[in-house]
Amino acid sequence: MTAQADLQRFVAEAVADISQAQDLDQLKIARLAHAGDKSPIAGQSRLLGSLPADQKASMGKIIGEARATVALAIETKTQELETLKDAKVLSTEVVDVSLPVQRGHKGGLHPLTILKNEINDFFIAQGYSVAEGPELESEWLNFDALNIAPDHPARTMQDTFFIEPRDAHLVLRTHTSPVQIRTMLENKPPIYVICPGRTFRADELDATHTPVFHQVEGLVVDKGITMAHLKGTLDLFAQKMFGDQAITRLRPSFFPFTEPSAEVDVFFNGRWIEWGGCGMVNSKVLQACGVDSETYSGFAFGMGLERTLMVRHGITDMHDIVEGDIRFSRKFGVGL
Ligand code: PHE
Repeated sequence: MTAQADLQRFVAEAVADISQAQDLDQLKIARLAHAGDKSPIAGQSRLLGSLPADQKASMGKIIGEARATVALAIETKTQELETLKDAKVLSTEVVDVSLPVQRGHKGGLHPLTILKNEINDFFIAQGYSVAEGPELESEWLNFDALNIAPDHPARTMQDTFFIEPRDAHLVLRTHTSPVQIRTMLENKPPIYVICPGRTFRADELDATHTPVFHQVEGLVVDKGITMAHLKGTLDLFAQKMFGDQAITRLRPSFFPFTEPSAEVDVFFNGRWIEWGGCGMVNSKVLQACGVDSETYSGFAFGMGLERTLMVRHGITDMHDIVEGDIRFSRKFGVGL
């Protein structure tokens, strides 16, 4: 009977301790004290073995019930405390999603770079490769190989940055067309390339000019290439740049390296805008590059990236593009 009275007391103490636990840590201590191997109830179980056979079964049952009572108390308390803990987390760790955020400026791409990437992607999707050439170019590649005669006005000091010493015959390239030559010298047709890059002319920086600017050149050399291919390519390119409604028109013009040559205009926002130059690659240029001009023909075009950007986005001052003010770049959604 004493053992039974002891057990009742142990259970009562256990239940009291468990019910007083304020949090899961305190409950753990109570669990170890009352349901662990060293608890008084466990001690009673250990004594079972030494009891006379006729008491064993009834005592075993009483101990079992005592354990079950304690276990239930722990289980109930655990659930209660966990619910409390969750509620507390919900109320203390609440996030106010309407608070203003402080976003760090991660830096981003310049609008011209974004435009260049867009153009590259467009032509790559049509099977073109991207070709690049040096900004410091030989006079021969920048002019002579393009059939630009030594007395051509573009060669004068007003337009071209010549590099000292003059007899090194180096210039800052005045256009991307020397990359056409490099490409034809290094590759056999069929050739489908675009050449984006920096170009230089001795202009003052003002609202519409900059001495350092960018062009993108296109060159195709293959069998049976006609001006119709050129026009179709320009129309698609214009639509990519200015939207599906854009159309182009060609106006007769002159470039020493194309024959015939044309100016490309694009119809955008209700008016015709001069966009770039183009033409069929002059057979003299093909021959200078070792391309059989009887078998192959080609077209080329060249546009200014600054001009394209200005027209497309209604930018009226070149300074905005050149100066690198982040407030300007940010409007183009560059992940700043
Ligand atoms: N290179 C010419 C320019 O800078 C543009 C052009 C490129 C014209 C290709 C015809 C063909 O003005």
